[in-house]
Amino acid sequence: MNILIIGMGYVGVTTGLVFAELGWKVTGLDTDANKMKSLSEGRLSFYEPGLDSLLRKHLLTTNIQFTTDVEGAIHDNSIIFLCVGTPSDQDGSADLRAVRIVSERIGSTMKDYKLIVVKSTVPIGTNANVTQWVKASQTDSYPFDVVSNPEFLREGSALHDSLHPDRIIIGSTSEHATQVMKALYAQMNAPLLITKPKTAEMIKYASNAFLATKISYINELSRLCESLEVNVTEVAKGMGLDHRIGPHFLRAGIGYGGSCFPKDSKALLYTAKENNMELSILEKVTQVNETQSRHFLDVWEGQLGGFTQKTVAILGLSFKPDTDDLREAPSISILHQLMEKQAIVRVHDPVAKLPASLLAERVSQFDTVEETLQQCDAVILCSEWETYIRADWAHLRNVMNAGYIFDGRNMLNGEQLATLGYHYYGIGNR
Ligand code: UDX
Repeated sequence: MNILIIGMGYVGVTTGLVFAELGWKVTGLDTDANKMKSLSEGRLSFYEPGLDSLLRKHLLTTNIQFTTDVEGAIHDNSIIFLCVGTPSDQDGSADLRAVRIVSERIGSTMKDYKLIVVKSTVPIGTNANVTQWVKASQTDSYPFDVVSNPEFLREGSALHDSLHPDRIIIGSTSEHATQVMKALYAQMNAPLLITKPKTAEMIKYASNAFLATKISYINELSRLCESLEVNVTEVAKGMGLDHRIGPHFLRAGIGYGGSCFPKDSKALLYTAKENNMELSILEKVTQVNETQSRHFLDVWEGQLGGFTQKTVAILGLSFKPDTDDLREAPSISILHQLMEKQAIVRVHDPVAKLPASLLAERVSQFDTVEETLQQCDAVILCSEWETYIRADWAHLRNVMNAGYIFDGRNMLNGEQLATLGYHYYGIGNR
């Protein structure tokens, strides 16, 4: 069984490499010729720990290859994973154009049985649409199955999550397809849930929306903790010891970002609206997330005595550590707010680069933490990179002007920093 992965973005590349690691022969397909050339030469277009060495390993084992030849790739492979993007449209709905184009292309090209596996995050009911799109484009009625197999990997730990998943969800209506999927994942030690395609699609959205809910819950609580002078980190720790609640996704901060939580929450809200329903909790979850960084920036502004004409460092641009992904990153919203407040902003990230459109007279990026903090009045920590946790804060105090640290991820030890002469403020931990 040869596997074709269509869409060489984050999920596609990781999925392909994981199947290569499991010993399958994988072909990665994308219409972006430059990207395919880079991948063939062992270079990734994004940063993800461990993935580049796995890529180079399996170029040598020949378990993975890359192509732009759509027809050849569809002919040569019986299992086709759809890993194309489903970005948010203006109205919050998921844009399914890429899924449709690829489905139609498979339909018009196929000459024998194909198992089409939808890994892209798609609205509930899309698997049925894929079936129709393939069928409507066929030149002859060749048999095929469509299966939903959502992806739950996290950026920054994509490889670990994909090789050791908590569960494998398969939405299938065909016994043959189910058996093939089971064989593909046979080496993985994870519970397998076989269900209907629509249920599988819902599980993906419901999981992301639930995790986003946990974060917004603790984030909203952090605002109250802040004014009551209660430490939200300790509250979360106490809550998390109850195994029904669990410790995960209860870290208060400046809000969640990334390519999934904001987009998938909006798409699920859109689906509810389309069905004349309201998901009132999820609506609040997104509202809390959209206002969290502004809330704490206002609190911090009071503590600093205003941001106007102050020199402020932003440490950590990516939406979380160990990735260069800036999509929906809270740091960018904080940067805009600081610009509105007429601050001078100096930014740093171990891998992510600020887009040229955001570099301005009063905004510059530096290569080291020390350079970034030169003459700064305040530093705002936006993602918890190890570099910042391990930084020599005693030395950095001499580099800064006023020593205000605003820790948007509650990642540093405030008491220790106070002894070094800093004014330390986090999220709900006054
Ligand atoms: C998420 C899901 O975890 C994953 O299962 C799904 O496949 C894709 O979406 P990802 O967006 O890569 O993964 O990262 P994740 O680690 O979930 O973090 C998302 C955001 O939530 C980050 O901005 C992170 O800083 C924030 N977060 C996470 C918190 O603010 N508090 C927490 O306790 C956990």
